[in-house]
This record gives sequence, structure tokens and C-alpha cells, in this order.
Amino acid sequence: MNDENGARRHNGPLGEVLVIIPTYNEAENLTEVVGRLRESVPAAHVLVADDNSPDGTGKLADELAAEDGHVHVLHRQGKEGLGAAYLAGFEWGCERGYDVLVEMDADGSHRPEELPRLLTALRGADLVIGSRWVPGGRVVNWPRSRWVLSRGASTYARLLLSVPVHDVTAGFRAFRRETLEGIDVATVVSQGYCFQIDLTNRAVQRGYQVVEVPVTFADRERGDSKMNRDIVAEAVWRVTAWGVQGRVRKLLGRRHT
Ligand code: GDD
Ligand code: MN
Repeated sequence: MNDENGARRHNGPLGEVLVIIPTYNEAENLTEVVGRLRESVPAAHVLVADDNSPDGTGKLADELAAEDGHVHVLHRQGKEGLGAAYLAGFEWGCERGYDVLVEMDADGSHRPEELPRLLTALRGADLVIGSRWVPGGRVVNWPRSRWVLSRGASTYARLLLSVPVHDVTAGFRAFRRETLEGIDVATVVSQGYCFQIDLTNRAVQRGYQVVEVPVTFADRERGDSKMNRDIVAEAVWRVTAWGVQGRVRKLLGRRHT
């Protein structure tokens, strides 16, 4: 069924699920997260999208794939950012006909045990976001600076883009393949974590049904976050540019009607 914006309304079985895990130096975390994922959603397939991590994450992923037919690896040349790794992963999954594409971090911050709840919600939605900032959602062990940054980014994007989503940068999500195709995901150029804001914004603007499900996000216990100043700067300038463009478009649209 299509609504007036062209977005599809669904109900019923989801089909084949691919969980994409982008990695850069996650050798200490990968085995555990893949194991927990395989246990909690046994039917799902996993794609590790590794940017040639110096710590050998790619080789470890190959070993996991050799033992388990549900695990696959996409080796990329070098570190190009979270956005580029996900785009390559989406392309890999769409080409192979997966019906649902999931984003999940490798470091245990996104609990694989919560994925079934996201997938259940996707039966009645086009995109499900595992949200820290809705009632029932939580953040555990995050430094105050990260808490402020994440809340600030969500509020800024909400106001500027008029996106009614509480956790716009969340990295734990489930998309229907049709949603990714409908938002022209292949044309996304955002590289860092603002990739997440970009996808949320596109889905909302194009009338897709976006549902937030509360999750608990626990800070990583091993390894380092890849967040840095360039990632924040990219998010600020892109969100500002999208906000201004959206407003100008609205004004011009009004003048012509
Ligand atoms: N392939 C690849 N290339 N993977 C990357 C890159 C990259 O350039 N940068 C980060 N990753 C992987 C990490 O290895 C990890 O699996 C995941 O992406 C998230 O990176 P973290 O560095 O652990 O992110 P974070 O914990 O600081 O940030 C979390 O919160 C952000 C803000 O809400 C993540 O959930 C982000 O997705 C989210 O936007
Ligand atoms: Mn993390």
C-alpha cells in the first residue's frame, strides 16, 4: 500500500536480514559481537565492512567467515569513514537481494540481544532507529562530553531540519531495502557520523515511516572511539547547509503557489 507521499506501509514477514558491521581496529571486540549476534538472531547474515584495519580485524573476520556460512567480509582499501563503509555494505547487500539491512557497531555498544525488538518494529515501519533519547532508552558509562555532543547534535538537527526524531545520529538501525532505494542512498556523500543524520533526514523528508525503539547504549570497554573533530565539523556544516536549503526551497515553493 502506498500513502500520499509514496512511502510504503508494510505488514508481515520481513525476509532475509543482513547486519552490516563497519570496523576499524576492532579485533578485540569482533568475535564477541558476532557470536552474540548469531545467537540472538540466528537466521540473519552478517557483513563485516573492514577498512584494512592495521590491527588485523580483516583477517579475524575472514577466520569467522570460514567457520560460519552466515558471516561475510567486505575488505576495503583504507579508512574512508563510517558513511563510505556503510554505503559499500548496503550495495553489497542490495545486490544480493537482502530484504532488511541493519547497521550495528562492532564494539558492543549496540546490544545484539536488542535487535529482535528492532526487527519486530520494522514489520510496521520503513526504518527503525534504536534510540537512546526516547523514554526507556539509556546511555551507560558515557563521558559527559559525549553525552552533551550527542544531545546537542540531535537537538540542532531536529530544529534545523524539522525532523521529528529524538536520536538522529543513532548507529543501530534497521532499514527495509525499499527504503534505502527510495532515499537514493547511493547518492549520499556524508562521510562521518553525520551519514546517520543524512539518512534520517532523507527518510523523513520522503515520507517514510520512521519508528524509534528505546535501546541501552553502553560505551565500549575495549579499543578506542573513532570520533574526532573533523567528524563533528562535517556534521555541523552539512546539517546547517541542509537546513538552509530546506528553508529556501520552502520559501520559493510558497512564492510560486
Ligand atoms: N570501516 C570503517 N571505517 N568503520 C569505522 C570507521 C571507518 O572509517 N569509523 C568508525 N568505524 C566503526 C567502528 O569500528 C565501530 O564499529 C563503529 O564504526 C562506530 O565507531 P565508534 O568509534 O565506536 O563510534 P562511537 O561509539 O564514538 O559513536 C557512536 O555514536 C555515534 C553518535 O551517536 C556510533 O554508534 C555512531 O554510529 C553514532 O553516530
Ligand atoms: Mn563506539
